[in-house]
Amino acid sequence: MARSRTVHRCSECGAESPQWSGRCPGCGEWNTLIEEVDRAGAGKLAARLCGRQPPRPVAAVDAHDGRAVATGVAELDRVLGGGLVPGSVTLLGGEPGIGKSTLLLMVAAAVARRHPVLYVSAEERAEQVRSRAERLQAVVPDLWLLSETSLPAVFAACDEVQPGLVVVDSIQTVHDPDLESAPGSVVQVRGCAHRLVLEAKSSGRTVVVAGHVTKEGNLAGPRLLEHVVDTVLTFEGDGHHALRLLRATKHRFGATGELGLFQMNTDGLAAVADPSALLLEDRRADIAGSAVVATIDGHRPLLVEVQALAHSSSLSFPRRSAHGIDANRLELLLAVLHARCAVGLGPLDVFVSTVGGVRLGEPGVDLGVCLALVSAASCAPLAGDLVACGEGGLGGELRQVAQIPRRLAEAARLGFRRAIVPQSAQVDGAGLDVVRVATLGDALRAADLPPAAVEGGRAGVARSDGAQAAAGLR
Ligand code: TYD
Ligand code: MG
Repeated sequence: MARSRTVHRCSECGAESPQWSGRCPGCGEWNTLIEEVDRAGAGKLAARLCGRQPPRPVAAVDAHDGRAVATGVAELDRVLGGGLVPGSVTLLGGEPGIGKSTLLLMVAAAVARRHPVLYVSAEERAEQVRSRAERLQAVVPDLWLLSETSLPAVFAACDEVQPGLVVVDSIQTVHDPDLESAPGSVVQVRGCAHRLVLEAKSSGRTVVVAGHVTKEGNLAGPRLLEHVVDTVLTFEGDGHHALRLLRATKHRFGATGELGLFQMNTDGLAAVADPSALLLEDRRADIAGSAVVATIDGHRPLLVEVQALAHSSSLSFPRRSAHGIDANRLELLLAVLHARCAVGLGPLDVFVSTVGGVRLGEPGVDLGVCLALVSAASCAPLAGDLVACGEGGLGGELRQVAQIPRRLAEAARLGFRRAIVPQSAQVDGAGLDVVRVATLGDALRAADLPPAAVEGGRAGVARSDGAQAAAGLR
């Protein structure tokens, strides 16, 4: 009989520790170590299932075996650099309700036009999946549905259907009866993922699994599974906006930078032809605190509205809230505004949010965020036809970012007329009136924000009334 030992595994990073402690020694998270039984024979079983292969000269390995095959869902194929690789395991992570099942059913139907696909729904009955398939025009002959939570039953169905693609929705709801742990637990999620990986590698079937993540990401979710699977896709968006963003955060077969864009309609997810126009659709340019940044996401130029609100705080530690931009970056920009431009928002609650749930992870958005902040604090709307891009340095200088001409061309296409960019940017105008500035202070002046907001030393007032706040900045 296989010997077993008890280990404590982190539900966030997967690190193993012989003893329990309050804090994971791997990632430093608190209360994430969970006891599990590690079977000594598990590794041997894995080796047996995978089949032992002798070493081969690199030239003797057939590169075609690792080639991506297009799914037929163009935005997904773009993110994957061509499509799904046979025998690979892909995890699609996202918050509940974001559209994972919808996307996976569409992919399953598209692939089923070429060979059999098994769609395992461990959350919904087959009838529910069928009615969704009708909405999505996904009722195709070689798409097989299985409403099942037990993993051995899934493998039995694979033997029957012989699918080229197996979709498991979701990894948190399937379970392996051989594991002494409740469905959804860390042990189950990891164990099931391992078994699916072994199945994919030994059979050559492509496996795609859905995984739920909470906003805190502390469920037994993608972070834990990242090490096990070949590709991790994240599906994001603001539930109240139709736009959905698909990214690869890990991809063993290609690059991870590409962005896929979908729009959630009543009949499923459609590729977005003009994402910038969709993101700016409901914009009201006459509101103070609204700025449009010209950013690059993946290989796409994108115009995104950043909204800021600065409001008198009743707390001794005013609130800082950042959605779509990094909270630490917001703190840093607030410090630069204070130290270099004499705009101190210290006593105010500050909220910054991007429209459409777009995550702006590149530094080129710094200038736009600063313009939105100062516009909000001074109650002075920015010109509606103004865009900005540039990275803010700690010295208050503005630094160049990549591909400024492409960003400005996108802005010109959508009717913007003025752009503020760093001095060093080499741009020929691109049909816009381009203002090149060396510092953040110069940028605030070029954006016609009240001069006092830029130059006054008494910035950072604790007043809720907009006009008074503007006056306080003087
Ligand atoms: P779903 O794919 O079930 O999300 P997840 O699997 O990530 O939990 O779909 C989420 C939402 O999408 C649901 O509230 C209904 C909506 N939806 C549409 O708007 N149009 C559609 O065609 C479908 C199938 C769903
Ligand atoms: Mg679902």
